[in-house]
Amino acid sequence: MSPDHARILVANGVNLDLLGRREPDIYGKQTLGDIETALTQLARGLEATGCFRSCRLSFYQSNSEEQFLLKLSEPWDGILLNPGAWTHTSLALGDRMKALGTPYIELHLSALCRREAIRQRSYTAEAALGVIQGLGPDSYTAGLTALLSYLSRFSREQAHGIDQGKKKQEASERTCL
Ligand code: DQA
Repeated sequence: MSPDHARILVANGVNLDLLGRREPDIYGKQTLGDIETALTQLARGLEATGCFRSCRLSFYQSNSEEQFLLKLSEPWDGILLNPGAWTHTSLALGDRMKALGTPYIELHLSALCRREAIRQRSYTAEAALGVIQGLGPDSYTAGLTALLSYLSRFSREQAHGIDQGKKKQEASERTCL
């Protein structure tokens, strides 16, 4: 992980470019642009508290699975992932997330647990830190808070581990003198 800003990708899969126009009774009236603005504001607010790792957000949406897999494979510190319908169809995307090992949270606007049986199966969540669903755009803001909290804790623990390692090395150097 880079020492300063955490590089976070907000990745939206197939058909999420239609948010705001597409089945608004299920997915709401907010566009992807509205969600991105809310996430940018939240990231600034969380950074100002001093309790969270600062981050640089990148936003990406694609209807091409190949392009989507390639974008996910770049060196990110964390990913917020809404795969859209690929959630329920793409073993390839699930395999990719497992292979990459990048920490990610899967999120959905709608409450999949209350929808058709086919939507209750996710091929893409197995390697996720967790799944957030059913909160509309708040699924994204809750996801960002959770991901930053995880990354902040992880980098503190890493720094602590390095400190401990350094202390041990210094102690053993002192013993050797
Ligand atoms: C979705 C749920 C999926 O079942 C659906 O295909 C989508 C959006 C959601 O955010 O609720 O495209 O991922």
